[in-house]
Amino acid sequence: MDQALKLRSYAQVEDAVAGTGTRVIAVSSGKGGVGKTNSVVNLAIAFSRMGKKVLLLDADLGLGNLDVLLGLAPRYNISHLLSGEKTIDEVLVEGPEGIMILPASSGVHELTNLGAEERISLASHLEALGEGFDIMIIDTGAGISSNVLFFNMSAQEIVVVVTPEPTSITDAYALMKVMFQRHGERRFRLLVNSVKTRKEGVEVYRKISLAAERFLNISVEYLGSVLLDENVGRSVIRQKAVMELYPLTKASQCYQEIAREICELPVQSGLKGGMQFFWRQFLNRTI
Ligand SMILES: Nc1ncnc2c1ncn2[C@@H]1O[C@H](COP(=O)(O)OP(=O)(O)OP(=O)(O)O)[C@@H](O)[C@H]1O
Ligand SMILES: [Mg+2]
Repeated sequence: MDQALKLRSYAQVEDAVAGTGTRVIAVSSGKGGVGKTNSVVNLAIAFSRMGKKVLLLDADLGLGNLDVLLGLAPRYNISHLLSGEKTIDEVLVEGPEGIMILPASSGVHELTNLGAEERISLASHLEALGEGFDIMIIDTGAGISSNVLFFNMSAQEIVVVVTPEPTSITDAYALMKVMFQRHGERRFRLLVNSVKTRKEGVEVYRKISLAAERFLNISVEYLGSVLLDENVGRSVIRQKAVMELYPLTKASQCYQEIAREICELPVQSGLKGGMQFFWRQFLNRTI
């Protein structure tokens, strides 16, 4: 795309979203299968019950499954948006409790590495949503691909999901290390999933934060833990969120506590105008 046109697009998007107060949280992990998507969905429900308008962005672009987890069968997804076939309103679907979801495609290889023009396109489509949301949560998918990195770097807050498994711990550390070494990111929040006891969650946090402080000189904040709960697996099979099917089960209580904790903590970037900040980062970063 011609440089001037590109810059104009940046400016238009920035102008259009100026002044919005949407809090943008990316949820990432390094290792796959540790509970990111379940965390995103259940935290979204918890936020919604607290009266917040929530938008979920499935940024696991080639292998999205947020919609599957919720038993939704969206007709369109982000690939239709990027190709210009559909508008944002046509692609967005409503999930449980008023949560809105932008579904990712599944099995579309080209989307695993968004180029600059696709980023601009995605940003300008989402920009049309304006100030309609209090919180946007991004499910980045696993790994350290360029998509994962730039969605993380664009958000105001990065929540890293980890389990007590050593492989999950080393991958979470690797993700933080890459984001620090390549992009100077110094602040992360940790959610320890599938713990047998809360004490185990704190121990995992200590391990990671000690290593991060000692070797990378970065700070990791503890958001809390989610207990291992067989009702999570049951809910996945039934394609419903555990917060919907078993609102009182131990995992649901943990999600609720973590959502409360997130609301009480200050927005990590320290900058105002969430969406504006998000798009500026999103469009200008070259990863
Ligand atoms: N707290 C929990 N207790 C018990 N099982 C859990 C818990 N959290 C997640 N699981 C199990 O882990 C599986 C994977 O969860 P999920 O799909 O959320 O992971 P993910 O990190 O999004 O995976 P991917 O990297 O493939 O996107 C779920 O299907 C569920 O069975
Ligand atoms: Mg997932």
